[in-house]
Amino acid sequence: MPDVIVIGAGAAGLMCAIEAGKRGRSVLVLEREDKIGKKIRISGGGRCNFTNRDSNAKNFLSENLHFCKSALAQYSPQDFIALVESHGIAYHEKKLGQLFCDKTSEEIIRMLEEECRCAKVEIKTSCEVKHLAKNGERFTFVTNKGEFESESLVIATGGLSIPQMGATDFGYKIAKQFGLGVVACRPALVPFLWNPHDLKAYVELSGVSVDAKVRCNDHEFRENILFTHRGLSGPAILQISSYWKNDGIIFIDLLPESDAMDSLVAGCNKGSDLVTVLSKFLPKRVVQKWVAENVPAKTFSHCTGKDLKAIADKLHRWKITPAGTEGYGKAEVTVGGVNTDEFSSKTMECKKVQGLFFIGEALDVTGHLGGHNFQWAWSSGFAAGRAA
Ligand code: FDA
Repeated sequence: MPDVIVIGAGAAGLMCAIEAGKRGRSVLVLEREDKIGKKIRISGGGRCNFTNRDSNAKNFLSENLHFCKSALAQYSPQDFIALVESHGIAYHEKKLGQLFCDKTSEEIIRMLEEECRCAKVEIKTSCEVKHLAKNGERFTFVTNKGEFESESLVIATGGLSIPQMGATDFGYKIAKQFGLGVVACRPALVPFLWNPHDLKAYVELSGVSVDAKVRCNDHEFRENILFTHRGLSGPAILQISSYWKNDGIIFIDLLPESDAMDSLVAGCNKGSDLVTVLSKFLPKRVVQKWVAENVPAKTFSHCTGKDLKAIADKLHRWKITPAGTEGYGKAEVTVGGVNTDEFSSKTMECKKVQGLFFIGEALDVTGHLGGHNFQWAWSSGFAAGRAA
């Protein structure tokens, strides 16, 4: 009978199992899929963006923005980098502190497997937990591979994104079973879908990307946006999608580096045409479509100062009303989850159910794009592993 049962062999569950095992606790990990770490394998385009050098509380969304601080302080990006280096895994910084394996994300999975072996962690794959309960001091489990018992229980079953890879709402159901709150969930780090009018207008731009500043609900990101055949994607769009609530508007600054009004006035005075002026800053295809959709048909040289100001404002505040997002099937993460109010931020243990821990994406803590979600998995897993 193990001391600790961890449900879910993703990033958080494995890290927790390793730390608990190192403390001499006997640990059993139950994983419903036939392989461990399926999301690690596909992450970062197969190279796993395993952390971000600069990960801190500002990179996370949660109803309680302070909750992640203690775990991130206990196990920082530098701690995970040291682990990666101790296994001789070569890595590089792609941009903005984002660290990726040079070769493949399989190396991270092998590293976690090796650490599990050293810590004598037992892992059962293709083992789905159907029900569990707390009977006195112990947790009891019914699975498709028999019944188990443990003293501590760690729920590391992740969020709802990519159901085709084993994502389930199991963690939320267990939270409700124990009377814990769940913050409403929505897909995040996910592409937007055009509304029907914009789909017609911009579908031909599919594949083009531009540097832009994207804003929604008082949050702003500056990186590329990518036109797709269904809507908008690219890093700036994925980031802002985490803050977008159905029916909201997003604003795109297509000329984040320059003052559109200055360029328009100069171009107008020279007698240039609008497409030529804007094509100095943006791909011509984008300019042609954008002008056709957003600028009233009027000869550029006849534009008044007021007309130019209206065009400049639109370039800096292009208003998009997406029809929706691509949903959990394409989302990297889930915003929302088990309410952190019910947990110790130091140990991840539930305040009202002794021995019950929640970690990783199952909790209401969601990172920005760029390695922050894995860092949360490592940090919260470590914190729980020290206490479970
Ligand atoms: P995770 O979802 O990884 O693991 C949960 C596990 O629980 C799964 O293995 C599941 O099968 C298992 N499970 C569920 N229900 C169960 C049950 N009833 N019984 C037994 N087992 C059960 N992040 C990042 O920082 N850098 C990156 O490069 C990427 N890239 C990326 C790409 C793609 C395509 C996606 C979808 C996501 C990312 N992410 C990412 C996000 C990152 O993958 C994610 O935040 C973490 O994997 C979350 O780790 P968890 O361990 O919390 O859950």
